[in-house]
Parts: sequence; structure tokens; C-alpha cells
Amino acid sequence: MTRQFNTVGIVGLGTMGAGIAEVLARTGVTVVAVDVDETALDRGRGHLTHSTDRAVAGGKLSSADRDATLARISYATSLDALAGADLVIEAVPERIELKAEVFAELDRICGPDTVFASNTSSLSITEIGVHTGRPGKVVGMHFFNPTPVLKLVEVIRTVVTEPDVVTDVVAFVEGLGKTPVVIGDRAGFIANALLFGYLNHAVRMYESRYATREDLDAAMRYGCGYPMGPLALLDLIGLDTAYEILDTMYHQSRNRLHAPAPLLKQMITAGLLGRKSGRGFYTYD
Ligand code: CAA
Repeated sequence: MTRQFNTVGIVGLGTMGAGIAEVLARTGVTVVAVDVDETALDRGRGHLTHSTDRAVAGGKLSSADRDATLARISYATSLDALAGADLVIEAVPERIELKAEVFAELDRICGPDTVFASNTSSLSITEIGVHTGRPGKVVGMHFFNPTPVLKLVEVIRTVVTEPDVVTDVVAFVEGLGKTPVVIGDRAGFIANALLFGYLNHAVRMYESRYATREDLDAAMRYGCGYPMGPLALLDLIGLDTAYEILDTMYHQSRNRLHAPAPLLKQMITAGLLGRKSGRGFYTYD
């Protein structure tokens, strides 16, 4: 019989953590959301209110269901609040030392059966797992942005993840109305490994003035049916996040496809991070 995850902890309430919290709470899961301080929690609450209001406005959620969704989420600034969680999903910034610290602390706080998942885009789940005393109960659960809209969740198993844990997590993902794919632990997993070479190539074309940003994006939208062009998508993902993903993949594979285009670094240094900073390849209100 598959195991139910009734109470789920989310660590890190940025764009991804808040999106994951929303998806879980909308399907009836009790969520305990943890971030470092009240300011971070307020920002997370803001994401949740904005996104659920949008779902109400779009007719996808009734006001009563929105209220019930938000009421299923509690907030805390200490990982101690996760002592009773069946599953904890970590979505903190992509630094291995930070993730290692979070999981080592969770390992002391949570019961021995609690399953630990990381939403990392490109760091090694195996490396994260060895910072706990339960590497067999550690998996990757990689969601996509915007999380309430996109159906895919990559479930990453390491060489030591227990098969039952993978089965339970896959069943849980299906219960969320999402589509799981199961994959081994390699930088970029499936989607990012295929996507980011393409995105990087688009930056190089733009950088060399081969095409305008509008024409690059129009070509992929209207010629290939993609919902967004590559430069608009980079703005959505965040240029800093994209750079980190490319850099990690490049260091692992040495595939030149993933060597970050120099323009990306220059834009990041200048504070042009995409939608979240108001300006990237395009400008946002
Ligand atoms: N949060 C919640 N809902 C959102 C949303 C958000 N940020 N953005 C859009 N939506 C919802 C809208 O409310 C709308 O819902 P309804 O149909 O109920 O009205 C629906 O999505 C469609 O939105 P729009 O009509 O405003 O615009 P659109 O049709 O152009 O879709 C999009 C917007 C969903 C972002 C679409 O353009 C898209 O899917 N783009 C590609 C995104 C993508 O590839 N993401 C993957 C990034 S890689 C990643 O995430 C992995 C990683 O590790 C970095």
C-alpha cells in the first residue's frame, strides 16, 4: 500500500516554495511553511495570495476554496515546526552548503520515517542525501515555474533511494494532479538538460546581434508553437537562476552547449535579473 503524506513541510517560501505550497494546499494537504524570518514569510504569503486570487479571477477556484486553501497553510520561522511532517520539500536558494545545513538540521528534528525531498534544479540529490542519516529516504522533487500551471514533476532517485520511497512520492505527485517522471541523479535531470542548451544558444544569437530579441522569441512561438520565446522565458526563470543551472551543468559535463553566454553574467552583474527585478531582456512594470 502506498504511504500517504498528509502533513508536508516546505522550507523556503520564494517563488517555487510558495507555488509548491499552493499546489499541495489546493489538493487538501496540510502544509507547514518555513522561512528564515517574518519578512520572507510575508513575501511568500504575498505570492500565495496573488496566485490564488488569479485562480479565482480565472474561474479555476471558488473564493471559498481559496480561503480553505490558504487556511491549510501555517507559517513558522523555525525548522522545529516540521517535527510532525510526513514529507519535507526543500526549496531554498541553490547553494549546496545551505541545503546540506537545512537537511542536517531536519534530520535531527524529524522522525526517522519522514521523507526528505529537494526541489533543486541541478544540484546532486546524492550529495544532499549524505548530509542526513537517512539517504535512502531522500529524493528530488523538481517542480516547474509557474508551479500551479505546469504539470511536470521530475522525481529523482539516487543509487540508495529506497524503491518504496520513489513509489510513494510518485503516487503523491499523481494525487496532486501532476505528471511525474522518474530519473537518475544527473545535473539538469531531463527537462533542464534539454532546455538550457537551447536557451543559452538564444542568448548567444542575441549577444552576437544575429537577431533581435523580438524576432528570436517570435520565431520559437510562432514557428515551433512554444508558449514563450527563449528570452522571455529566461526573464521568467530569472537570469541568476539560469546562470547557476548552466554553470552547474557545464562543470559536470564540460559540454560547451552549457557554457554560460557571457552576456548572462554581465546582465546579472548589472542587476538585470528578469521579471523579479523589473528588467531582463525585456522591461516589466
Ligand atoms: N502563477 C499562477 N498562475 C499563472 C502564472 C503564475 N505565475 N502565470 C500564468 N498563470 C496562469 C494564468 O492565470 C492562466 O490561467 P487561466 O487559464 O486559468 O486563466 C494561465 O496560467 C495562462 O496564463 P496567461 O493566459 O496569462 O498567459 P499564457 O497563456 O501566455 O501562459 C505561461 C503563461 C503559463 C507562463 C506560459 O507562457 C508557459 O507555460 N510558458 C513556459 C513556461 C516554462 O517553460 N516554464 C519552465 C521554466 S524551467 C523551470 O521552471 C525549471 C527550473 O528549474 C528553472
